[in-house]
Amino acid sequence: MEECDEFDPADPERPPKTLVEVDQCIQLARVQLNAHFGYSFLSEEKIENGTHKVNSGDSVPGFEALSDGVLFYPCAASDTDLVTEVFSDLVESIYLCDVRRPRFPDLVRSTAPNTTVYNHFGDSLLVPHVGRVFRETRPEILTRPRSVGDALASFNYCVGDSVHFFLQSMKSISVFFYRRDSSNPDCEGGSGVLWFGPVLLDFVLQRIVNGGILCTDFSNSYGFLAERLQKLVVGEKLQYRNFTLIRIEASMISAKLSSLALVQVLRR
Ligand SMILES: C[S@@+](CC[C@H](N)C(=O)[O-])C[C@H]1O[C@@H](n2cnc3c(N)ncnc32)[C@H](O)[C@@H]1O
Repeated sequence: MEECDEFDPADPERPPKTLVEVDQCIQLARVQLNAHFGYSFLSEEKIENGTHKVNSGDSVPGFEALSDGVLFYPCAASDTDLVTEVFSDLVESIYLCDVRRPRFPDLVRSTAPNTTVYNHFGDSLLVPHVGRVFRETRPEILTRPRSVGDALASFNYCVGDSVHFFLQSMKSISVFFYRRDSSNPDCEGGSGVLWFGPVLLDFVLQRIVNGGILCTDFSNSYGFLAERLQKLVVGEKLQYRNFTLIRIEASMISAKLSSLALVQVLRR
């Protein structure tokens, strides 16, 4: 008898190859995130399907739209210097996130004084194509105090699980920054969170402002969209759902980003 080779969105060894399969993975992730943590995704239903390359004729817009939102950098550890140097005068606020407390003595707690102080996170579970998600959902927020008249972005650090923080608080993202992570928490000290996998990358795009930027070394990336993004050359565009994704030259923002790939996100 012929073996049935139906796509199984719960199988982490089998990345989705079509948009229909991506949607199955997203649906399963939503169901599990709802069942385990009560998240609702009603306002984030897809409006359009399809992916194809588009002509690179149109000009790339500027970066004015970035100032409307935040820079979000999940699983950041102590990697603060580059984002603060490059983005402090481009975005309104910067949010780094890690389950480990950063060693920055100038950060003060901005969550209520009676919230939990975390020194370690305990239990976690694996959500297919999302990765490891900790069961603790409440983050602790630390902020760098600002001086009067400070025009630069506020700097904040979320001590908590990045998936929870993203789902709860990162509703409008100007820059999604992500680098030097690994999908193997056991041997390599990576987060095991699949931020450039087919589900979380789609979630991020749904929340990014028109003209926003993905800035990454493609850590933890695989599957349908990330593979196509990695192949884009500067100036080339890719259509994904209702987004036009354009690979841009790092130096358009700063030469300091030259080791990373920058993709601008336009909404149609
Ligand atoms: C390989 S390190 C990241 C390095 C950092 N991006 C850099 O460039 O220096 C992975 C980090 O992810 C953090 N981490 C693990 N699981 C996490 C989660 N669910 N949410 C947020 N941070 C997490 C770990 O504490 C660790 O600091």
